[in-house]
Amino acid sequence: MNISFQKGIRKDNALLLCGWSNEEGKEFQEQWMGPRLSYPLNYDKIKELENIFSIFDREEFIGVIQEVRIEEDRIHIGRFVIDPKKTGRGLGTAAMKGFLDFIFEDDRIQSISLTVFDFNQNAKRLYEKLGFEIEEVIENPKRKYIMRKYRDKG
Ligand SMILES: CC(C)(COP(=O)(O)OP(=O)(O)OC[C@H]1O[C@@H](n2cnc3c(N)ncnc32)[C@H](O)[C@@H]1OP(=O)(O)O)[C@@H](O)C(=O)NCCC(=O)NCCS
Repeated sequence: MNISFQKGIRKDNALLLCGWSNEEGKEFQEQWMGPRLSYPLNYDKIKELENIFSIFDREEFIGVIQEVRIEEDRIHIGRFVIDPKKTGRGLGTAAMKGFLDFIFEDDRIQSISLTVFDFNQNAKRLYEKLGFEIEEVIENPKRKYIMRKYRDKG
């Protein structure tokens, strides 16, 4: 495994991403994208996403992740998805860990937050394993958590 990131997404990879996500269905799209973009995805919707990063394992495009909001010393990330055919092999954990390291290379950033649905226990466990803690619980319309990880001291 050799994870790397590239800012932006090439059209061919955006089309792959639309294919995986649309095949999984509307709820899957909402799980990783939130409700703002309508189902199904297409290239025009993907290309509007700012600060999106392509995730590669060696040469192979395996997913995306986004810096959703940057506020002084904190970043909210999201839109994290790994190709559903390649999940459960540790790629998601390695990708998230690599992305956290990449963000914290900027000394100004003190913490990173994200949002995860309660029903998405795989993702929630992954984030906990990497040091995220629940900061806020939002009950409606579906229980979800805002989780935050602070820069490691030392
Ligand atoms: C969340 C996600 C990015 C994790 O990627 P991944 O490549 O599966 O991550 P890992 O292989 O490192 O697995 C993470 C954990 O989920 C578990 N898991 C992953 N896929 C699984 C599956 N199909 N069945 C059972 N467990 C699974 C793994 O066992 C692992 O837990 P562990 O570390 O305690 O063993 C990926 O599942 C995904 O894209 N999900 C859909 C989109 C989404 O929900 N994004 C997050 C929005 S907040």
